[in-house]
Amino acid sequence: MSNNNEIPGFVVWMTGLSGAGKTTIALILEEKLRERGLKVERLDGDVVRESLTRDLGFSAEDRAKNIERVTFVAKLLSRNGVGCLCAFISPYQHVRDHVRANTTNFLEVFIDAPLEVVIERDVKGMYKKAIAGDIPNFTGISDPFEAPENPDIHVRTDQQSPEESAQVILDKLASLGYV
Ligand code: ADX
Repeated sequence: MSNNNEIPGFVVWMTGLSGAGKTTIALILEEKLRERGLKVERLDGDVVRESLTRDLGFSAEDRAKNIERVTFVAKLLSRNGVGCLCAFISPYQHVRDHVRANTTNFLEVFIDAPLEVVIERDVKGMYKKAIAGDIPNFTGISDPFEAPENPDIHVRTDQQSPEESAQVILDKLASLGYV
C-alpha cells in the first residue's frame, strides 16, 4: 500500500476452462469495484483476441504470446494503481507464473467447474464442435489445461453462484487491503 492512502494496483488473474464463468464473474467484480470508486480495467480473452492479439491462434506458442502481451498491459496498469480483472483460459502454469513475476499484487484465481459441467453448459456451442473434431486444440477436449497447483483463490462455479464467487474474491482483496 502506498503511503498517501491510495489503494494499490492489483491483478485478479482468472484462469479456467472455457465456460467456467470467468467473464461472468469478472463483470460482477468490475461493477462492484467501480461502485467503490476504484480504478478498474477488465481484460478478457474474447475481447483481447479481437484486437491486441487478433493475429494469434491457439497453439501453445500462440497462447503464450497472447498472455505475454496481456501481461505487458497488466504490468503497466497494476503498477499505476489500477485493479486489473483478467479473464483468460491461460492453460499453462509456467505462463501464469510468469504473469505473477511481472505484475504488481498478482492473485491467481482458479475459476473451476468440472469438464462435464462446462460441456453440459456449452454456452457458446464450442464444446459440441470441438468434440466433433471441428475445432482443433480445444482446451479440455484436445488441448491441455493445467489446473493451478496452488491458487490464491479457488472458486467452484458448479457449487456456488457467480455472485458468491465474486464475493469470495472481493473478500480476499479486502483482507489484503487492495480495496
Ligand atoms: S488462452 O488459452 O490464450 O488464454 P483465451 O482466454 O485468450 O485463451 O481465449 C479463449 C476463448 O477463445 C474461448 O473462450 C473460446 O471462446 C475461444 N476459442 C476459440 N478456439 C479455442 C480453442 N481451440 N481453445 C480454447 N478456446 C478457444
